[in-house]
Amino acid sequence: MKSSLEDTLLSAIRTIPDYPKPGIMFRDITTLLGNARAFRRAIDELVHPYAGTKIDKVAGIEARGFILGGAIAHQLSSGFIPIRKKGKLPHETVRVAYSLEYGLDEMEMHKDAVAAGEKVILVDDLIATGGTADGAVRLLRQMGADIVAACFIIDLPELGGRRKLEALDVPVRTLIAFE
Ligand code: PRP
Ligand code: ADE
Repeated sequence: MKSSLEDTLLSAIRTIPDYPKPGIMFRDITTLLGNARAFRRAIDELVHPYAGTKIDKVAGIEARGFILGGAIAHQLSSGFIPIRKKGKLPHETVRVAYSLEYGLDEMEMHKDAVAAGEKVILVDDLIATGGTADGAVRLLRQMGADIVAACFIIDLPELGGRRKLEALDVPVRTLIAFE
């Protein structure tokens, strides 16, 4: 049986078939973000295992990870690291290529965004193939970050992203799954 949290989140997310490509069931969190109760419950639930733990930085993946990561960083009194699509950051960066459910891209992080040994939580809205999160883990570890966990609202388990991150020794936290 689903918990009331799962029911709240599942019913707040809209599914758009065949977006951005035929065959993709796009899980659209804009409806969850617009629902004050669902948004607050999602953030509270993502944050609570780390309350009272010192987390130096929350790293959010462009674009949807910025919205969640900013709220989580505020709750944990942590700094925020934007991990961006290539060409958007103004200072010296590290860059990786990555693949995702519907394409290929490159992402960057400022070299001075994290210091070696800092404790970091990685945040995004959804994990599908895990290609995007894997790229972010590689960037953060290149600069010596200690990744405490990777947190997502949505897991698409058939696409194997959780297993990919766990194989890198990154604990994964997700709130709901779409089979
Ligand atoms: C989506 C989502 C994750 C990624 C997950 O972002 O927000 O970042 O795909 O897919 P993966 O696990 O297969 O890598 P998208 O690249 O669509 O960017 P956006 O947030 O800017 O829309
Ligand atoms: N990112 C990768 N796959 C996705 C999906 N099915 N829905 C929303 N965002 C995604």
